[in-house]
Amino acid sequence: MEHLASPIFRGVLMSEVLIRKIAFVTGGGSGIGEASAKALADAGASVAIADVDMVGADRVVAEILENGGIAKSYKLDVSDDLAIGAVIAAIEKDFGGLHIAVNNAGIGGDLAPTGEQTPAGWRKVISVNLDGVFYCMRHEIGAMTRSGGGSIVNMASILGEVGFANSSAYVAAKHGVVGLTKAAAIEYGTAGIRVNSVGPGFISTPLLKILPEEALAGIAAIHPMNRLGTSAEVAALVLFLASPDSSFITGGYYPVDGGYLAK
Ligand SMILES: NC(=O)c1ccc[n+]([C@@H]2O[C@H](COP(=O)([O-])OP(=O)(O)OC[C@H]3O[C@@H](n4cnc5c(N)ncnc54)[C@H](O)[C@@H]3O)[C@@H](O)[C@H]2O)c1
Repeated sequence: MEHLASPIFRGVLMSEVLIRKIAFVTGGGSGIGEASAKALADAGASVAIADVDMVGADRVVAEILENGGIAKSYKLDVSDDLAIGAVIAAIEKDFGGLHIAVNNAGIGGDLAPTGEQTPAGWRKVISVNLDGVFYCMRHEIGAMTRSGGGSIVNMASILGEVGFANSSAYVAAKHGVVGLTKAAAIEYGTAGIRVNSVGPGFISTPLLKILPEEALAGIAAIHPMNRLGTSAEVAALVLFLASPDSSFITGGYYPVDGGYLAK
């Protein structure tokens, strides 16, 4: 009966499966991170939203609060290890611990064949998309250990599994995220910390603005479902991996890709 009395948000009965859980979402001010933060909040988690863009982060926090959820924004560049340590410490102080982390912040980078990529362009993508995930995990693992365990969800990509022309730094970083996820899952399997990665196909978010409009129809067509995915479709998988429903799942890489990798 208590379940039936739960509030209904966005037309979905709030499951409260994550009530009293504290979640951290990087890049939570837009796209997949925003949808993940909202899904976690709808499930009852208190959500710390970290982003370089505080306009986006504050907007998402305001929308979660309006819906009766709990959230707070934190300014953060995930390529800055020291800053991540400070934000994780602030979250532990503000909310009392950490149980869920969605390491989602990412950038696209310059589009050019490998021989024409610059070291600076390479470093920029690796520093956010790979170093950033490592730096976050390093601090999250300490905080989750102090909180009695948790679940880390790293946002990889289908390009963590296969190549793609003109995006070598991005492809290398996402393959690295998949490997980092597996290594940490092995290390912390008995410590109550699960670590998984998610591999979205091409998802309709601001990130795809780097691609010309005419390229998007062609990209949709290389997915067997012949469309781009939505952020909510990725967030549903993130929520599952963050929740106790996935209690025996760790070290995995899970595509959410409209069949892209099946080809
Ligand atoms: N959209 C896609 O097609 C797609 C496909 C596969 C994987 N992904 C991955 O999903 C994640 C989210 O992408 P999205 O499509 O939602 O993009 P997005 O551009 O909509 O959102 C990314 C968010 O990350 C933030 N961000 C960027 N650099 C940051 C930094 N250094 N520190 C903190 N925050 C930072 C941005 O401000 C933004 O709010 C990325 O890791 C991306 O690689 C996206």
